Amino acid sequence: MQEIQPSVTTQEIACEEITAPPCDMVVFGASGDLVRRKLLVSLQQIFAQGLLNEQFNLIGCGRKDLSDEQFRQIAREAIEDESEGATTGSVQPFLNKLHYISGSYDDLALYRRIKGKLVDLDTGYQDNRCRIFYLAVPPFLYGTIVEQLGSARLSGSYDDDSIRQTRLVVEKPFGKDLQSAVELNSTISRWFGESQVYRIDHYLGKETVQNILMFRFANTIFEPVWNRNHIDSIQITIAETLGVEHRASYYDKTGALRDMFQNHMLQMLTLVAMEPPVSFQADHVRDEKVKLLRSIRPLQPDDLSRHVVRGQYGPGFIDGKRVVGYRAEPAVDPKSRTETFVAAKLFVDNWRWKNVPFYLRTGKRLARKNTEIAVTFKKVPHSMFALVGLDDMPPDVLVLRIQPEEGIYLSFQAKRPGSKICMGTLNMNFSYKSVFGVDMPNAYQRLLLDCMVGDQTLFTRFDGVETAWQLLMAVLETWQADDSAPYEYTAGGSSFPEADELIESDDRTWRPL
Ligand code: BG6
Repeated sequence: MQEIQPSVTTQEIACEEITAPPCDMVVFGASGDLVRRKLLVSLQQIFAQGLLNEQFNLIGCGRKDLSDEQFRQIAREAIEDESEGATTGSVQPFLNKLHYISGSYDDLALYRRIKGKLVDLDTGYQDNRCRIFYLAVPPFLYGTIVEQLGSARLSGSYDDDSIRQTRLVVEKPFGKDLQSAVELNSTISRWFGESQVYRIDHYLGKETVQNILMFRFANTIFEPVWNRNHIDSIQITIAETLGVEHRASYYDKTGALRDMFQNHMLQMLTLVAMEPPVSFQADHVRDEKVKLLRSIRPLQPDDLSRHVVRGQYGPGFIDGKRVVGYRAEPAVDPKSRTETFVAAKLFVDNWRWKNVPFYLRTGKRLARKNTEIAVTFKKVPHSMFALVGLDDMPPDVLVLRIQPEEGIYLSFQAKRPGSKICMGTLNMNFSYKSVFGVDMPNAYQRLLLDCMVGDQTLFTRFDGVETAWQLLMAVLETWQADDSAPYEYTAGGSSFPEADELIESDDRTWRPL
């Protein structure tokens, strides 16, 4: 296969960076893993780029008793660790904006102290600052915190301006099934309007995921062929080399279907398959996404095994190093039936996609980290080169590469120099890094800024979350009732037979991982 590098010129149109308005952010779960690994370093980077407002304050809340100074020290270490020593700019001015309050999440007194602290910090600043309450706690605490915020009159429900400026950020997982998601939405809606709620799916903050919309709807050449007349099938892959790491207490109760499929995988499917929204406004985009989710053919319990396969990693090798199987991981139940891999075949029952299969797979401890969407076009209907043995030419494939080698490539047939009819597959390869010369910003930077400016486009709406759960309920219930274990696959392997069968029974194959 030949590689050709296109020459790319970029013209900067509509390329203004968003800067945040004055804002106070209250983070629950401040000494937890998410805050240490993602939030603090992302906020510090936004600050160093001059995009965070000078009047920004962060109040960390947690059960641990910490002083402001101790919290700042934890934050300093987290920022240095996560940016691997390459912090942008000085960290101290950012740390000075951090404060800490400890207490128990079900105690109204904690929320009164938060309210008092917000008033102190805001004295002398302009009114109508934006207030963000960020739930970075385990999901079972979401309801409690929301109720207490409401009871303490912190949800902004006292005048219109404060409603607009007060926001709630909820991390995934949003519920563990349809019923719990509906209940959580209903608790939230008692105190916060939908326009105040920012449900995070960090995949939507990834540059390359956002680019799916630009690619489809800012060009005219792809849309006419983006349908069942020209596309044979679509494969969406999120493969990780990581295992369960130190998250067994969460993951063993969750599994890949809830952890990756219900959110990241289905979100990528909606972006690649939805109809063009009227505009890039939050609700226009989200309306189309929900419409697409509603068009996915429901999975039938009696036919599930032909459409969904689950696996669990056994021992194996990753990057030449021996790794243990899932059940031998620390804190995992040695008899665990939790799936670490899911492959599924879905259909979207609408005019554009009727009978085009969407093959989705995601798993931990696979051969390499690779997230991509591959669109395989139909083969030529008739080969005029059959007489020279070229009667079965490979189809053209367009790959939107999300990570780690962010880019787009198109493989197609072309004449090779030489004998009169000599053909080969060429790859036209666009790499973000070589064209733009920058590392991709972390998804949280985009999402935090969007939340501060009040743009909900990249956040999931209540009906989107519920529709995604609805679709998966047949799978969750069937697996729950079935006491057989998931198929075991070898850690570091690139596939396993049950998943292969799912696609090979349609005369197709998975793309190499
Ligand atoms: C998270 C999941 O949402 O996404 C993790 O909880 C997973 O299990 C992670 O490892 C993958 O994210 P990324 O950005 O590394 O692909």
